[in-house]
Amino acid sequence: MNKKRLGPVPLLYPVSIVLVGAMVDGRANFATVGDCAIMGIRPALVAVSLHEGHFTTRGLRDRREFSINLPTTAQLALVDHFGHVSGRDVDKSRLVAWRPGDVLPVPLIDDCPANLECRVLQDGTVQHRHFFVAEVLEAHLREDLFRTGASPEKELSSALPDLRTFDPILYALDDHYYRVGGEPIAAG
Ligand SMILES: Cc1cc2nc3c(=O)[nH]c(=O)nc-3n(C[C@H](O)[C@H](O)[C@H](O)COP(=O)(O)O)c2cc1C
Repeated sequence: MNKKRLGPVPLLYPVSIVLVGAMVDGRANFATVGDCAIMGIRPALVAVSLHEGHFTTRGLRDRREFSINLPTTAQLALVDHFGHVSGRDVDKSRLVAWRPGDVLPVPLIDDCPANLECRVLQDGTVQHRHFFVAEVLEAHLREDLFRTGASPEKELSSALPDLRTFDPILYALDDHYYRVGGEPIAAG
Protein backbone atom coordinates (compact mmCIF):
# COMPACT_ATOMS: atom_id res chain seq x y z
CA MET A 1 0.00 0.00 0.00
CA ASN A 2 1.32 3.45 -0.84
CA LYS A 3 1.99 5.89 1.95
CA LYS A 4 1.30 9.58 1.79
CA ARG A 5 3.87 12.07 3.02
CA LEU A 6 2.53 14.11 5.93
CA GLY A 7 5.40 16.56 6.28
CA PRO A 8 7.13 17.16 9.61
CA VAL A 9 4.58 15.66 12.05
CA PRO A 10 5.69 14.02 15.35
CA LEU A 11 3.46 11.06 14.64
CA LEU A 12 3.89 9.18 17.92
CA TYR A 13 0.51 7.79 18.45
CA PRO A 14 -0.94 7.64 21.11
CA VAL A 15 0.63 9.21 24.22
CA SER A 16 -0.50 9.07 27.84
CA ILE A 17 -1.65 12.28 29.37
CA VAL A 18 -0.18 13.37 32.70
CA LEU A 19 -0.54 16.34 35.01
CA VAL A 20 2.79 17.98 35.75
CA GLY A 21 2.78 19.70 39.13
CA ALA A 22 5.14 22.29 40.57
CA MET A 23 5.23 24.99 43.20
CA VAL A 24 5.16 28.34 41.42
CA ASP A 25 5.49 31.53 43.46
CA GLY A 26 4.67 29.51 46.59
CA ARG A 27 1.47 28.03 45.13
CA ALA A 28 0.84 24.56 43.69
CA ASN A 29 0.15 24.58 39.96
CA PHE A 30 -0.59 21.85 37.43
CA ALA A 31 -0.46 21.62 33.64
CA THR A 32 -1.82 18.91 31.37
CA VAL A 33 1.07 17.40 29.42
CA GLY A 34 1.25 14.88 26.61
CA ASP A 35 4.92 15.38 25.87
CA CYS A 36 6.27 13.17 28.62
CA ALA A 37 8.58 10.19 28.16
CA ILE A 38 10.58 7.54 29.98
CA MET A 39 14.32 8.15 29.53
CA GLY A 40 15.55 5.13 31.50
CA ILE A 41 14.40 2.48 33.97
CA ARG A 42 17.40 2.07 36.34
CA PRO A 43 17.99 4.78 37.31
CA ALA A 44 14.42 5.94 36.76
CA LEU A 45 14.59 8.86 34.34
CA VAL A 46 11.79 10.82 32.71
CA ALA A 47 11.54 13.85 30.44
CA VAL A 48 8.86 16.48 29.98
CA SER A 49 8.65 19.22 27.39
CA LEU A 50 6.82 22.42 28.29
CA HIS A 51 6.13 25.63 26.42
CA GLU A 52 8.51 28.19 27.82
CA GLY A 53 5.64 30.61 28.46
CA HIS A 54 3.59 28.30 30.71
CA PHE A 55 3.23 29.22 34.35
CA THR A 56 4.27 25.68 35.34
CA THR A 57 7.53 26.01 33.39
CA ARG A 58 8.65 28.81 35.70
CA GLY A 59 8.15 26.51 38.70
CA LEU A 60 10.28 23.75 37.17
CA ARG A 61 13.02 26.19 36.21
CA ASP A 62 13.11 27.92 39.57
CA ARG A 63 12.77 24.92 41.88
CA ARG A 64 14.23 22.16 39.71
CA GLU A 65 11.69 19.64 40.93
CA PHE A 66 8.19 18.61 39.89
CA SER A 67 5.54 15.92 40.19
CA ILE A 68 4.00 13.76 37.50
CA ASN A 69 0.42 12.80 38.35
CA LEU A 70 -1.21 10.03 36.32
CA PRO A 71 -4.93 10.66 35.92
CA THR A 72 -7.59 8.13 34.94
CA THR A 73 -10.49 8.62 32.56
CA ALA A 74 -12.67 9.50 35.60
CA GLN A 75 -10.69 12.76 35.79
CA LEU A 76 -10.99 13.68 32.14
CA ALA A 77 -12.93 16.93 32.69
CA LEU A 78 -10.31 18.19 35.14
CA VAL A 79 -7.45 17.15 32.87
CA ASP A 80 -8.97 18.97 29.93
CA HIS A 81 -9.62 22.06 32.07
CA PHE A 82 -6.05 22.11 33.41
CA GLY A 83 -4.87 22.02 29.81
CA HIS A 84 -6.84 25.12 28.85
CA VAL A 85 -6.41 27.52 31.77
CA SER A 86 -3.21 29.00 33.10
CA GLY A 87 -2.13 29.30 36.70
CA ARG A 88 -1.53 32.94 35.90
CA ASP A 89 -5.31 33.44 35.73
CA VAL A 90 -6.74 30.62 37.85
CA ASP A 91 -5.58 29.18 41.16
CA LYS A 92 -5.59 25.51 40.12
CA SER A 93 -4.38 24.45 43.58
CA ARG A 94 -7.93 25.09 44.83
CA LEU A 95 -9.53 22.79 42.26
CA VAL A 96 -7.92 19.54 43.46
CA ALA A 97 -6.92 18.00 46.77
CA TRP A 98 -3.14 17.61 46.90
CA ARG A 99 -0.32 17.15 49.37
CA PRO A 100 3.42 17.71 49.27
CA GLY A 101 5.54 14.68 48.35
CA ASP A 102 7.37 12.54 50.88
CA VAL A 103 10.83 13.16 49.40
CA LEU A 104 10.38 16.47 47.58
CA PRO A 105 7.95 19.32 48.33
CA VAL A 106 6.21 18.84 44.98
CA PRO A 107 2.40 18.77 44.82
CA LEU A 108 0.87 15.27 44.49
CA ILE A 109 -2.79 15.10 43.43
CA ASP A 110 -4.80 12.83 45.78
CA ASP A 111 -7.25 11.57 43.15
CA CYS A 112 -4.54 10.52 40.69
CA PRO A 113 -3.80 6.85 41.47
CA ALA A 114 -0.10 7.23 40.68
CA ASN A 115 2.31 10.08 41.40
CA LEU A 116 6.03 10.54 40.77
CA GLU A 117 8.38 12.86 42.63
CA CYS A 118 11.03 14.09 40.20
CA ARG A 119 14.26 16.07 40.53
CA VAL A 120 15.56 17.86 37.45
CA LEU A 121 19.00 16.69 36.30
CA GLN A 122 19.26 18.59 33.04
CA ASP A 123 17.17 21.09 31.15
CA GLY A 124 17.39 23.33 28.14
CA THR A 125 15.50 25.37 25.58
CA VAL A 126 14.75 24.13 22.08
CA GLN A 127 12.85 26.64 19.97
CA HIS A 128 9.76 27.57 22.06
CA ARG A 129 10.03 24.55 24.34
CA HIS A 130 11.83 23.98 27.59
CA PHE A 131 12.70 20.32 28.22
CA PHE A 132 13.50 18.80 31.59
CA VAL A 133 15.20 15.46 32.15
CA ALA A 134 14.61 14.32 35.70
CA GLU A 135 15.26 11.46 38.06
CA VAL A 136 12.24 9.87 39.74
CA LEU A 137 13.10 9.84 43.43
CA GLU A 138 9.83 8.28 44.58
CA ALA A 139 6.73 6.75 43.01
CA HIS A 140 3.34 6.20 44.64
CA LEU A 141 0.60 3.84 43.48
CA ARG A 142 -2.82 3.48 45.12
CA GLU A 143 -2.85 0.38 47.28
CA ASP A 144 -6.04 -1.20 45.96
CA LEU A 145 -4.60 -1.25 42.44
CA PHE A 146 -1.85 -3.74 43.23
CA ARG A 147 -2.71 -7.24 42.06
CA THR A 148 -3.99 -9.46 44.87
CA GLY A 149 -1.30 -11.28 46.79
CA ALA A 150 1.52 -9.57 44.90
CA SER A 151 4.49 -8.04 46.69
CA PRO A 152 5.81 -5.08 44.71
CA GLU A 153 9.10 -5.14 46.66
CA LYS A 154 9.87 -8.59 45.17
CA GLU A 155 8.48 -8.37 41.68
CA LEU A 156 7.10 -5.02 40.64
CA SER A 157 6.02 -5.96 37.12
CA SER A 158 3.61 -8.67 38.27
CA ALA A 159 2.23 -6.46 41.06
CA LEU A 160 1.27 -3.55 38.82
CA PRO A 161 -2.35 -3.34 37.68
CA ASP A 162 -3.58 -4.33 34.25
CA LEU A 163 -3.69 -1.17 32.15
CA ARG A 164 -7.44 -1.56 31.71
CA THR A 165 -7.82 -1.47 35.50
CA PHE A 166 -5.56 1.55 35.76
CA ASP A 167 -7.54 3.21 32.97
CA PRO A 168 -5.12 5.99 31.93
CA ILE A 169 -6.07 8.74 29.50
CA LEU A 170 -4.52 8.40 26.06
CA TYR A 171 -4.31 11.20 23.54
CA ALA A 172 -3.75 11.12 19.82
CA LEU A 173 -2.87 13.73 17.25
CA ASP A 174 -6.46 13.58 16.02
CA ASP A 175 -7.28 15.77 19.06
CA HIS A 176 -9.26 13.06 20.82
CA TYR A 177 -8.86 11.39 24.18
CA TYR A 178 -8.98 7.59 24.30
CA ARG A 179 -8.99 4.81 26.88
CA VAL A 180 -7.01 1.56 26.76
CA GLY A 181 -9.16 -1.01 25.01
CA GLY A 182 -7.50 -4.27 24.21
CA GLU A 183 -6.13 -7.33 25.97
CA PRO A 184 -2.36 -7.72 26.49
CA ILE A 185 -1.10 -9.49 23.34
CA ALA A 186 2.16 -11.00 24.61
CA ALA A 187 4.62 -10.84 27.48
CA GLY A 188 7.50 -8.46 26.80
C1 LIG B 1 -4.32 17.20 25.88
C2 LIG B 1 -3.35 18.31 26.18
C3 LIG B 1 -1.99 18.07 26.13
C4 LIG B 1 -1.08 19.10 26.39
N1 LIG B 1 0.26 18.82 26.33
C5 LIG B 1 1.15 19.82 26.56
C6 LIG B 1 2.55 19.55 26.52
O1 LIG B 1 2.99 18.43 26.30
N2 LIG B 1 3.41 20.59 26.75
C7 LIG B 1 2.95 21.86 27.00
O2 LIG B 1 3.76 22.76 27.19
N3 LIG B 1 1.63 22.14 27.07
C8 LIG B 1 0.72 21.15 26.86
N4 LIG B 1 -0.62 21.41 26.91
C9 LIG B 1 -1.06 22.79 27.19
C10 LIG B 1 -1.01 23.19 28.67
O3 LIG B 1 -1.53 22.19 29.52
C11 LIG B 1 -1.84 24.48 28.87
O4 LIG B 1 -1.32 25.51 28.05
C12 LIG B 1 -1.95 24.94 30.30
O5 LIG B 1 -2.94 25.92 30.35
C13 LIG B 1 -0.65 25.49 30.88
O6 LIG B 1 -0.93 25.87 32.20
P1 LIG B 1 0.02 26.81 33.06
O7 LIG B 1 0.18 28.14 32.38
O8 LIG B 1 -0.74 26.93 34.38
O9 LIG B 1 1.31 26.10 33.21
C14 LIG B 1 -1.54 20.39 26.69
C15 LIG B 1 -2.93 20.64 26.76
C16 LIG B 1 -3.83 19.61 26.51
C17 LIG B 1 -5.31 19.87 26.59
